[in-house]
Amino acid sequence: MKVLITGAGGNLGRVLAPALQDNGYTPVLMDFRPLDTPYEFIQGDASSKADVFRAAEDADIIVHGAALHGVHLQNHSRDEFWKLNMEGTYHVYEAAREHGIRKVLLCSTMGVYGASISVPDSSFAVVTEDLPCLPGDFYGLTKTLAEELAGFYSRSHGIRTISYRLGMFVPENFLRYGFRLLKGGVDDRDVAQAFLLGLKNDTIMFDAFNVMAAVPFSLEQLPQWREDPRALLESRFPGIADLVTRRGENIDELLGAWGHVYWSIEKARAGLGYQPGYNFAEFYRALQSGNDAHYPFADLPWWGVPEQT
Ligand SMILES: NC(=O)c1ccc[n+]([C@@H]2O[C@H](COP(=O)([O-])OP(=O)(O)OC[C@H]3O[C@@H](n4cnc5c(N)ncnc54)[C@H](O)[C@@H]3O)[C@@H](O)[C@H]2O)c1
Repeated sequence: MKVLITGAGGNLGRVLAPALQDNGYTPVLMDFRPLDTPYEFIQGDASSKADVFRAAEDADIIVHGAALHGVHLQNHSRDEFWKLNMEGTYHVYEAAREHGIRKVLLCSTMGVYGASISVPDSSFAVVTEDLPCLPGDFYGLTKTLAEELAGFYSRSHGIRTISYRLGMFVPENFLRYGFRLLKGGVDDRDVAQAFLLGLKNDTIMFDAFNVMAAVPFSLEQLPQWREDPRALLESRFPGIADLVTRRGENIDELLGAWGHVYWSIEKARAGLGYQPGYNFAEFYRALQSGNDAHYPFADLPWWGVPEQT
């Protein structure tokens, strides 16, 4: 089965393409940059309808990843966001309709929630997919609209879509990667797992799922997480502050100001069978044993030339 990945030269493609191959799929990579990759590659621009139609011609399923995202907000215009994120998504669904492709796996973002997760000082937000999408920036808006578009093609043309509201998985250093798993981060391998589950799924017509690491606290512990995250962390993971200090970092800085948000992955667990294998507990064990190789993605080489930003 051929799986076309648009925007395949980035963080998603470099972990998903080998995972697809390992699981018996044939990855076909599309990117507007020339990529030096061992997989079948089609150079093309997702904001060109002709390019997307050409790339999708032989595909059985499309993973639509090509997008400008959060880091691009600073130096890309709204026009550019609209052209790639909206027109690109439209082209993908039109190509699916034209070529009889029955399923699209859509990259969305945790950024669709926006104002839904800003809560008063002493409170916290439990982020489930039931919250309204109230994006606070143009990127989140394009992804919210892309989900709407997907819903339309599912209802009107029977094209199944699973929309992944992905947590953060841009490369980070080991400690920042680990602490990010507490506040909406996700390991690249778990992102790949979620997509593999979506490929196998034949019941979902259209739905959206949070895809993050599992938070190592219960909902009942949230007030404590809000009040004193460091103490709660230390009670669950003894010596964590020390391990961080020994590496020359500060645990309070790493924890940051995100103690008011609890990212729920219960829907993805129930609906997709998603079971993240790289959570804070695994990071803690790797930190204890000094095994930074637990997170191999920070230094993974890019395919081809780095993207111009
Ligand atoms: N990485 C994250 O932390 C994260 C978090 C939430 C959502 N997402 C979403 O996941 C998807 C994949 O993210 P990523 O981190 O792999 O992105 P990335 O920026 O690492 O890669 C995007 C790729 O798209 C390519 N591209 C750019 N413009 C293109 C165009 N016009 N036509 C074809 N290809 C083009 C780039 O060359 C690049 O290789 C995106 O849709 C993003 O919005 C990512």
